[in-house]
Amino acid sequence: MKTTQVVMPHAGGPEVLEFQQRDLPEPGPGQVRLKVEATGVAFAEVQMLRGRYYAQPKFPFVPGYDLVGEVEAAGPGVAVGGRVAAMTRTGAWAERLVVPAAHLVPVPDDLDAGEVVALITNGVTAYQMIHRVAKVAAGQTVLVHGAAGGVGTLLVRLALRAGARVIGTASPGKHDQVRELGAIPLDYRDPLLVERVRQHAPGGVAAVFDHAGGPGLKRSWAMLGRGGILIVYGSAATVDDKGWRLAPYASALGRLLWWSLLPNGRRGRLYGISHRGHFDEDLATVIDLLRKGEIQPRVAARLPLAKAPEALRMLDDRAVVGKIVLEP
Ligand SMILES: NC(=O)c1ccc[n+]([C@@H]2O[C@H](COP(=O)([O-])OP(=O)(O)OC[C@H]3O[C@@H](n4cnc5c(N)ncnc54)[C@H](OP(=O)(O)O)[C@@H]3O)[C@@H](O)[C@H]2O)c1
Repeated sequence: MKTTQVVMPHAGGPEVLEFQQRDLPEPGPGQVRLKVEATGVAFAEVQMLRGRYYAQPKFPFVPGYDLVGEVEAAGPGVAVGGRVAAMTRTGAWAERLVVPAAHLVPVPDDLDAGEVVALITNGVTAYQMIHRVAKVAAGQTVLVHGAAGGVGTLLVRLALRAGARVIGTASPGKHDQVRELGAIPLDYRDPLLVERVRQHAPGGVAAVFDHAGGPGLKRSWAMLGRGGILIVYGSAATVDDKGWRLAPYASALGRLLWWSLLPNGRRGRLYGISHRGHFDEDLATVIDLLRKGEIQPRVAARLPLAKAPEALRMLDDRAVVGKIVLEP
């Protein structure tokens, strides 16, 4: 069985991406072969192309963090079939691929593959941070940085669904969309950002969701009220830094630990999605919320696999609100 796949051959701009045809092996024990319906484009791939992702794979590799696809063939002893969602971290920008059968979650036939893809990594990330880490409650005010992004739009929707009031930071050109989502938009580049947050939440906010990291962490901490939590889940602001790629994460972790020790009633956490723990359950939950119409992911663009370089450029240029999806 042949497949076409996108390859990141080395660091560079989106123009370095290559397309490759190859023969797929038959699925072995514990594996399935999937025919991809839709696969997501994420900021992680922007970082990977620069060689700056925290869990950077070795070049060359096939990117693609998540997908919705059909099980075409199963290896010996595997009972999984039908339409499934998977978080692969790499490899999904392809027509077909062979993956482990573990952690595949069923997808009802009547759901749009692109909308489900927008909920795999991004939806579980947002759901776990809102409900398992911050435990956002009705009546609280929370702040979501990058509120127009793939994860950010879902954080806003889930926090509102939990009954919270949401302040969302974004570039000014995206404020109308942030307002439409139901959040109060602010510009994260505004030097008076902390003061503006305090105008909306004089006692400080209950939670800050920070995907940018870097020097801005200090501001995020300053926005918290007593009992508040700062959750750091990315380092977008350091994507063009040089040097050891884990340095921003080590520095963020060190600061969060130190700040949390101070007797100020605030805490900090680093969040990283993983197949461990509640992944399968939480993915099934967000897919069910979509089925019930209780959460609406925003698919910003649907492009064929051949347009992967364009998709990556759009994301890197911050030209989208929501999630870009490739449909092979
Ligand atoms: N920890 C985890 O498990 C996990 C899981 C998924 C994603 N993530 C992280 O979550 C973040 C968002 O991912 P995504 O796929 O949703 O990305 P996305 O759709 O590109 O959204 C990111 C948003 O961040 C803003 N942004 C871009 N570059 C920035 C920079 N240099 N400094 C500050 N803001 C910047 C952009 O907003 P404006 O256009 O408004 O500037 C953009 O809307 C990334 O940092 C990613 O690594 C982490």
